[in-house]
Amino acid sequence: MTTPVVERTNVKKTYMLGKVPVNALQGVNLKVEKGDFVAISGPSGSGKSTLLNMIGALDKPTEGKVFIEGVNVSTLNDNGLADLRRRIGFVFQFFNLIPRLTARGNVELTMSITGLGRDERRKRAEGLLETVGLKERVNHKPAELSGGERQRVAIARALANNPKFLLMDEPTGNIDSKTAKEIIELVMRLNEEKGATIIIVTHDQQIASQAKRTVQMLDGLIV
Ligand SMILES: Nc1ncnc2c1ncn2[C@@H]1O[C@H](COP(=O)(O)OP(=O)(O)OP(=O)(O)O)[C@@H](O)[C@H]1O
Ligand SMILES: [Mg+2]
Repeated sequence: MTTPVVERTNVKKTYMLGKVPVNALQGVNLKVEKGDFVAISGPSGSGKSTLLNMIGALDKPTEGKVFIEGVNVSTLNDNGLADLRRRIGFVFQFFNLIPRLTARGNVELTMSITGLGRDERRKRAEGLLETVGLKERVNHKPAELSGGERQRVAIARALANNPKFLLMDEPTGNIDSKTAKEIIELVMRLNEEKGATIIIVTHDQQIASQAKRTVQMLDGLIV
């Protein structure tokens, strides 16, 4: 049997808001095998982004363990964490684009670690932006783009290095249904043809129904 891509045992996360504890995750178990395509849904505040951040090694649990490809994330030092994060494509709920770079610059930057030449990086960035419907916007900076357009830049960026592991937090929330459909088809191809493991947080039932399985969250628990 191969090592699961993600394994979490009884994971809890408590945020402190001043002196008030917020129990965002109250004991979550989740196992994701290589090549899986999981949709996570649940009401606002149920802990979906918290869960995804921990799977992407962006945050550590208060209790319990998170294993990514068999490695306990809590045991990694900064270099180990950086290395792990580089191999993960992450589409953040609030995009996290770099304001002073153009759409193309944001996508190219991700590829700076790949050893691809400048021209190749540029070509690939433009191709990805075309795929997400932004051919005419490659030279725009985030402030010069609409919310849905920024979201599409974030998606192009996450796909830039052909990640084997893709985490998406509401990637189609601000996008028209036609573009959303195209993006999901792209993600499904990545899953089916390249064997990438996909975890997607979504409110969209249409999208959730395309996944191999769905996980429901409520009040910091998987139900
Ligand atoms: N940094 C933080 N400090 C304190 N509380 C937080 C923090 N981040 C999240 N929370 C709280 O933790 C709970 C889970 O938040 P989370 O962002 O995971 O929800 P979500 O399911 O992604 O919601 P949405 O659908 O609105 O994005 C919420 O009650 C939220 O208020
Ligand atoms: Mg969220």
